[in-house]
Amino acid sequence: MSSTNDILEQDNHLIQSFADLNALKQQGARTVISRAEGPYVYGSDGQRMIDGIGGLWCVNVGHGREEIISAVADQLRTLDYYSTFYNFTHPKAAELAAKVASLAPGHLNTVYFGNSGSVANDSAVRILHHYNIRKGKPEKRIVLSRTGAYHGSTHLAIALTTPLYSEGWHAARDMVHHLPSSHHWRDGGDMTEAEFLDYLMATMREAIEHIGPDSICAFFAEPIQGAGGVIVAPEGYHKRALEICHEYDIKYVADEVVTAFGRLGHFFASEDVYDMVPDIITTAKGLTSGYQPLSATIVSDDIHDVISGPDGMFMHGMTYSGHPAACAAGLANIAIMENEGIPERVRTTGKQFESILRGLMDIGMVGEVRGSHFMIGIEFVKDRATRESHAPEKQVGLKVAQACQRRGLIVRPLGNVLILSPTLIMDAPMFDDIAAILREAINEVATAL
Ligand SMILES: Cc1ncc(COP(=O)(O)O)c(C=O)c1O
Repeated sequence: MSSTNDILEQDNHLIQSFADLNALKQQGARTVISRAEGPYVYGSDGQRMIDGIGGLWCVNVGHGREEIISAVADQLRTLDYYSTFYNFTHPKAAELAAKVASLAPGHLNTVYFGNSGSVANDSAVRILHHYNIRKGKPEKRIVLSRTGAYHGSTHLAIALTTPLYSEGWHAARDMVHHLPSSHHWRDGGDMTEAEFLDYLMATMREAIEHIGPDSICAFFAEPIQGAGGVIVAPEGYHKRALEICHEYDIKYVADEVVTAFGRLGHFFASEDVYDMVPDIITTAKGLTSGYQPLSATIVSDDIHDVISGPDGMFMHGMTYSGHPAACAAGLANIAIMENEGIPERVRTTGKQFESILRGLMDIGMVGEVRGSHFMIGIEFVKDRATRESHAPEKQVGLKVAQACQRRGLIVRPLGNVLILSPTLIMDAPMFDDIAAILREAINEVATAL
C-alpha cells in the first residue's frame, strides 16, 4: 500500500472538483480516504471518521455492501459491456428500467440511463426539445429554474444551476431563466410563509407571461434544494408550481438526484412527500448508492408516446447508457433497500436525526437548522436576530467542518452553511455522537472568531 506522501505526490496530477486548486497545493490541504465500511470512512493515516455526507449524498445503503460488490463482479464476468444503441439491449438494463418504472410515480414509465446527475438533467432537456420539435413547437425551448438550485456541472446543467455558479462563464444561460429563491427564512422579508408562497407563484406566472409560454419547455426543481444550502420551499410550493406549469403547457422536471432512494423516507419524494407527479424525474446517486456511476431520466407516457411516434429518430445517446455493471449495482442496491425496508426505517430514524440536530439551535452562532430526514443544513450567523451573515473570508463553515474532521466526522461546508447527508443506515447512538462533535466544533470556532 502506498504511503500518504506517495499518494499526495501522484495526486498532483489530479484535478479535483469544485476545489480551490491553488489552496490544494498547500501542505496538508488534501484528505486521502483509503477505505470505507458501513457508516465510516478511513483516512490514509488510519483515522476512522463518520461519513456525515454519505460520500456525496449518495452512499445510501452504507459502504462495503457485499451484495452490490458481487452483483457488479458477476455481471462483469457475464457481460462486461454492451451498448443500448440502435436495436441493442441487455438483461440488466431492461430489468432495472422496469424496476425503476415500477417505483416511480403514476405515468412515469420509461427510463433513459446516463452516468451522472448532470447528464440526467441534460438528457431531460434534450428529450423535451425533441418532444416539442415533434409536436411542431421547436421554439418551445427555454427552461425555468430557481435561484439556489444545483443541477450539475455540464455546460447546460451549470446554466440551470443558481447563477452564482456560472457568472462570467457564458454557460447556456440564454436558454435558462431563474425564478427567485424559495428560501423563506433568508429571502422572505416580512412575509409569512403563506404570503411568500403566493409571491413566488405570482412571480412564476409573471415570468411565464413575460417570456411567453410558447417559448418555455420546462421548469426544473429539486424537491429540497441540496447543494444550494438545503433549502426547503414553503409548504405546497411544488404542487402549486406544477399546476401553473400545466396551465401553460410547461413540463415539470423534478430533480431527485439527491432526494430519491430513501433520503427523505421514500423511493421518490415527489408524490409520496409532496403529493405531486411531475412529468420527468431525474435521479442518480442513491440509485446505486454510488457504487457505480448511473443516472436515470424517467419520463411520462405522454412524453414517451411523442418521442417514440412514427417517422423520426431519437438523436441522443451515450456509450455508457445502461452500462451492465452499473445496472447490476442499481438492482442489488434497490434489493437491499427493499429487503431491509430502508426508506420505511428512514421515516423514523431520519426524523430522529433531524430533531437531534435541531437541538443545536441553542448555540448562538446557529441561525437555522433546516432540511428533512437525512438531508440537513446548518447555517451560521453573526447575529441571530438580524440574520446577519459572517463575512465570507471568515470561512466559518470551512473552519467548523475542519474542527469536525479532527474529531472524526466528515461534513460539507458551503460558505456559512454546513451540510449533512449521511448514509441511511445509522441510528440514534450515532446521531448523539454526531451532535456532540458538531456542538464542540461549533463552540470551538465561535470562541476563536
Ligand atoms: C440535485 C442535484 N442534481 C444534479 C446533480 C449533479 O449530479 P452529478 O454530480 O452526478 O453530475 C447533483 C449533484 O450533487 C445534485 O445534487
